Amino acid sequence: ELELELEAALRAGLSVERASPPLPFPVKSAIRFLNQAQFHPRAYVVPLAHGIVGGGSHVFEATRVIAVDEGEPCRIHTDLDTTLTADRVILATHAPLNRVLLQTKLAQYRSYVVAGPVRHSPYGLFWDMDDPYHYIRSHRIGDQFYLLVGGEDHKTGQDPETDVKFHRLVEYARRFDVSTITHRWSAQVIEPVDGLPFIGRNAGSERVFVATGFSGDGMVFGTLSAMILADLCRGIPNRYAELYQATRVKPLASLASYIEENVDFPLHLLSDTLRPPDVTSLDAIERGDGKIVRVRGERLAVYRDHEGALHAVSPVCTHLGCHVAFNVSERSWDCPCHGSRFDVDGTVINAPAVHNLRRRNVF
Ligand code: FES
Repeated sequence: ELELELEAALRAGLSVERASPPLPFPVKSAIRFLNQAQFHPRAYVVPLAHGIVGGGSHVFEATRVIAVDEGEPCRIHTDLDTTLTADRVILATHAPLNRVLLQTKLAQYRSYVVAGPVRHSPYGLFWDMDDPYHYIRSHRIGDQFYLLVGGEDHKTGQDPETDVKFHRLVEYARRFDVSTITHRWSAQVIEPVDGLPFIGRNAGSERVFVATGFSGDGMVFGTLSAMILADLCRGIPNRYAELYQATRVKPLASLASYIEENVDFPLHLLSDTLRPPDVTSLDAIERGDGKIVRVRGERLAVYRDHEGALHAVSPVCTHLGCHVAFNVSERSWDCPCHGSRFDVDGTVINAPAVHNLRRRNVF
C-alpha cells in the first residue's frame, strides 16, 4: 500500500522520497512528503473571521441554519426564527443540509486525540498505516512541547467503547517520553466516498454551493474551498474546480466504499425498533451513563447525570429515523446512520439532523 502511495505521489508530481522517520520505535518503511508546513490553525482562522465583517458581510455565531431555500435571493432559515437573505449560499457545514444524495457520498467518523508534555518532540506530522490508523504531531506552548497522538477512528454512533479508544491512544503515546496525559478530546471527521472533498455547486443548484468531506485536513481543504468557490461565485474559471466538483460520480474509485458506507441506514432502519433495549429498568442506568430503555411501552434514550437525575429523549434521530446510541466519553447521543449527534437533552450537536430529539418524561 505504501509503495502504491509512493508511485501515485510521484506520478502526481509531488516531492516525495523514502525516509527514516525520527521516531523512537522502528518502522518497516516510510515515505516523506517534502515542502510541507505546520501552522497554528486558530492563529490562521481568527484574523480571517475578523476580515469578513463589514462591507455588507456579517458573522452570526450560535445560530443554527435549519433550511435554505434557493432563489433570488436565497433565503436562509435559522433556529432563532430569523431568515437571512443572500445572493449565493455556501454550505460549509460538514454535513450539507437537506442534501440526501450528497449525504450518501459522505461518512461521519469520530477521531480521538490525547496530548501531554514531552522533553523531545519529533518534528513533523506522522501517520501510520494501522487499521485504525494513528497520527502524531507536536505543539508548543511557551517553552513546553506537547505531543499529540490521535486516531482510533470509527463511524459515529457505531462503537460504544469510546473510553477504550482513549486508553489505546495513551498506550501508543507511551512509546514517547510523555510523562502524563494532560488533554484528551474527540472530533467529527467527514470522509468522502472516493477520497477527495466535494467542493462546488450542488446538484440542481445555481446559487447554492457545498464544501465538505475534508477528511481531517480542514485547514488545507477549507482554504482550497474558499479559492474555488470564490471563483465559481464570480463566474471565473478555476483549475481545481472540475476535480473537486460536488456532483461528480467516480464509480471506479468509490463503488466499494459507497456500498460499505451506505448499508448502515437500511439495516438500522429495519432492525432498530426490533432490537431489545440496552437495559430493562431505569435503575440499571448508572450515573454518567445513557441507555435505551422501554418505559410504559415506549423506547426512550435515558441518561443519568452525576447527581442522579434522569434526562429522557426519544431515540429516533430527527434526520431519517434511525435510533441513536450513547457515547460515554462525550456524553452524547450519536446516530449510527449518518453521524448526527445530540446532547443528553436532545439538542443537536452535529448535522445532518437539524432538529432536536423530542424530550420525554420518564415518570
Ligand atoms: Fe441520518 Fe440519524 S443521521 S438517520
